Order: sequence, then C-alpha cells, then structure tokens
Amino acid sequence: MSTTLTTDVTTARAKVHFETWGCQMNVADSEKMLGLLQGQHYQLTDTPEQADLIVLNTCHIREKSNHKVRSRLGVLKDLKKTNPRLKIAVTGCVAQAEGEKLLQRDSGIDLLLGPGKIDELPRLLAESAQRPHRPAVALGFAKGRGDHSQETPAEAAKIEAATFEECLHPAPSLFGRNEISRFVTIQQGCNNFCTFCVVPFTRGKEISVKPAIVAAKVRSLLSNGSKEITLLGQNVNSYGTDLVENQTLMPTAEGPFVDLLRDLCTIPELVRLRFTTSNPHDLTFPLAQLFGQEPKLGKHFHLPIQSGSDTILEKMRRKVTAAEYLRRVQWLRDAVPDMALSTDLIVGFPGETDQDFQATLDLVEKVRYQFLYAFNYSPRKHTAAIRFKEQVPDAVKTKRLAALNALQDRITVEINEATIGNVHKVLFLYPSRKKPGCFYGRNAQFQLVQIESSESIAGQERDVLITKANKTALVGKLI
Ligand code: SAH
Ligand code: SF4
Ligand code: F3S
Repeated sequence: MSTTLTTDVTTARAKVHFETWGCQMNVADSEKMLGLLQGQHYQLTDTPEQADLIVLNTCHIREKSNHKVRSRLGVLKDLKKTNPRLKIAVTGCVAQAEGEKLLQRDSGIDLLLGPGKIDELPRLLAESAQRPHRPAVALGFAKGRGDHSQETPAEAAKIEAATFEECLHPAPSLFGRNEISRFVTIQQGCNNFCTFCVVPFTRGKEISVKPAIVAAKVRSLLSNGSKEITLLGQNVNSYGTDLVENQTLMPTAEGPFVDLLRDLCTIPELVRLRFTTSNPHDLTFPLAQLFGQEPKLGKHFHLPIQSGSDTILEKMRRKVTAAEYLRRVQWLRDAVPDMALSTDLIVGFPGETDQDFQATLDLVEKVRYQFLYAFNYSPRKHTAAIRFKEQVPDAVKTKRLAALNALQDRITVEINEATIGNVHKVLFLYPSRKKPGCFYGRNAQFQLVQIESSESIAGQERDVLITKANKTALVGKLI
C-alpha cells in the first residue's frame, strides 16, 4: 500500500517537518525519528517554510520514485534561500537504494539516512552541524535496536536496556494520524526476493524484534492512551523464524508469531490487535485458528496474492499457487465466517496474457475481497523481472487495472451495503477535521464507520447501527 502523509513538528529552538511516503513501516520509522528528535529538543511547527530540518522519508517500490524525490528536493532546497539554517534529510528506501548517487552537486541534501540506520539520526545531525558543507551519510543494514543477529551478550544487554528506556517515552504519532491506533514494527527486512520487488534491497534481511521488547513497546503505547496496535513487518507472519534459528527463542507448537499474538492479547488495556503484511506462504493453520479464539484480533486479514495465475505466480517467485492460497483463505473463513480479506495485486507482470489476467479477475470474484490495492507492474532496478522478456505494454496494463478496480468497486459496495441494519462494535479513532461532530472509527472487519456525536468518542468502543453505506465508508448511529 502506498500513502502520502505530511507532518509538521517543531521545538522552541528547532523545528522539523516530515514528509512520509510509502508503506506503514515508513510511517512507523518517521514516528521513531520524531521521538529521537524530541530528545534533541525539536518540537511542533506547521509548515515546511518554518522548518529548520525537513525529513523526506521516501519509498522506492515503483518507478519514478527517484524522480519524485529529486523534484521535491528542487522545491524544498529553495527554502534555504530564506532560511540558511535549514537542513534537508533524505531517509527511507530511496536513500538506501540510490545511496550517494543522490548527492550530486547542488542536490540540497544535508543528511542521507537508510532505514537500517535510523538510530544514527542524532549523530548525523551533530556531524552536519560541525561540517555544514559536507552531507552526513549513514547507509546499510548494521545493528540497530532489536537487531541482534550478531550481538555479543554484553551488546545485547546494552541495546535492550536502551530500548526499554525508550519505551518509557514513546514517540508521538505523526500529524494526520491518531494516538488511538498505533504501529509497532516487529520485523525489519524480507528474505523472499519476489522477482518484481526492491524491498530486500532497501531493507535487508529479516530481523525480528525480541518478544519482550515488542511487549514493552505495546504496553508503553497503551499506557499513553492507545487502544489498537498494528504490528508491522514486510513478512510479518514469518516473525521470529530468525529468533528460533539463532536460538534466542525455543521452537514451540504454534510458532513464535502465534505465541507473540497470544501474549499481547492478554494485556487488559489492549482493545484490538492487527498486523500487516502477511505472506500467504507463511500463513499457518494455528495462525488461522487463533482468529476464532482471540476476540481482540481484528476480523480482517490482508493477504497479498499478486496474481490469480499460477504461471505468473511462479515467475514472480511467490511460493504459493492460487489453489494453495484459496486453501488458506478457507482456513481463515472456517475459523471466522465473517472474516474480511484484502489483497495486493500487480497487473501486467511480464508475460501476463489475457487468460492470466482473467484468472486474477476470477480469483477476486471467488474470494470477494473487502478491498484491494492494485498497481501496474513497474520494472525495478536490481530485481530479476526487469530482465524478463515479454514486458506488457503500458496501455494494456492500464486497461487491465481499470477492469480490476471496477470489479473490486462493485464487490466493495455489495459488501458494505450488506451491513445496513446490522449492529457493529466500532473503535472510534479520530474526529473529522472537516465536519464538526463527526467521528470516524473501524469495526472488527476494518471497515471505516462514520457517525455523528455531540460528545467526543475517540478511543471508545461503541455499538453502532449501520444505516447507510457507500464504497468508502459505512454510516451509522450510536445505540
Ligand atoms: N511484503 C508484502 C508487500 C510489500 S510491497 C508482500 O509480500 O505482499 C507492497 C506491494 O507493492 C506489493 O504487495 C505489490 O503489490 C506492490 N509492488 C511491489 N513491487 C512492485 C512493482 N515492481 N511493481 C508494481 N507493484 C509492486
Ligand atoms: Fe517484496 Fe516479496 Fe518481500 Fe513482499 S515478500 S517485501 S513482495 S520480496
Ligand atoms: Fe516503499 Fe520501502 Fe515500504 S520501498 S513500500 S517504503 S519498505
């Protein structure tokens, strides 16, 4: 999923402005940087024009990402004319993938920081202050909090103590998000190397955060008023495989991810637990069954398939066939009959025929997703698929994408309209910024629910009678 989120944060002495592109992991990373900067006395501001530090936290998933970064830098560096103190940091996946190539003359970049080096932001700021004419750079996948792949026991103890200390002062959420529902990254990187994807090159190999540290982070957010936690990883349901392999955790019957979820669900303050993104290959039967056992787990599963055609899935190196995927969907629906599903799809992967694309449409009809994110295939440097023959013309991709989205829109409206007249438990997250007295929340199936209320209900879980529905939201009233 790709989103754009703009955030502004200041301090009495220095001000920072965030622009966060890409997936939820980037949002979580921006929040972590914000926490580190608050330790450096940065506070709120509301416009980039007032900032002393602008952080562009970038995404590399599709083409044009470099172009997008360069064109935004072109605008932002002009602000240095009126504010010579302004520093610009480029962070995230473009920083890691493009590296020092981004630093051509007059790029405007003062700090270049990869996602594996976020902890080094304060050091980079100090370095940049001392040597203002040379960019300060930290790239690569070295050790960070929670990365314990090569630690000595003494280093591990030190990192753990620092992380627990950090948990006492959780980073605030970004502007445009809310305190009720927060992200906790439990795994960095990905080992899969799907043939279309840059993530293993920008985020490195899979490294899981130890369960005790995850629990401490979750507890600290809950004690600050959060009610819903979404655990993040690119391959989140393979969480802990590395910890078992390096003997940090003992092997168990249900596996480390199910163990973690069970443990977190026992925290009384937690109202709802979600996680994303799962790989169908690592969806185990015990994980599916857990949804029938733990009422705090949201009844929604984001399970990217990418294509409905086995020929294409194999070329993508996705490790499951459509039939194996559908079997896992059945496990989930056996555990929870009203389980909502969503997915990611790529159209126009090299070699995709009309018949392959039809298999994708058929799969979407069969699963009846609540929503999906579909994109035209975008050839990416370093990945295997960029060299595949039979690249599909852009016009064909665009036509297929429109057909897929039209099919899904119809299904989404049908699913949403079927809720009219039902009562749903809704966790309210935030008031509308445009309509006073209007609040938004999500039900267990992750559907957006809108109601009107004279009292503030953010943070409350309430029963709502659904009275109307459209493609984007359900509308209801409190009962
Ligand atoms: N780890 C997740 C997905 C991470 S990337 C998973 O395995 O499902 C998020 C989504 O971006 C992917 O699911 C895919 O649909 C899309 N994506 C990734 N690389 C892409 C590319 N080269 N072209 C088009 N879409 C791509
Ligand atoms: Fe990319 Fe595949 Fe890893 Fe997902 S599982 S991040 S699509 S390589
Ligand atoms: Fe983009 Fe990096 Fe996320 S490439 S999708 S920000 S992991």
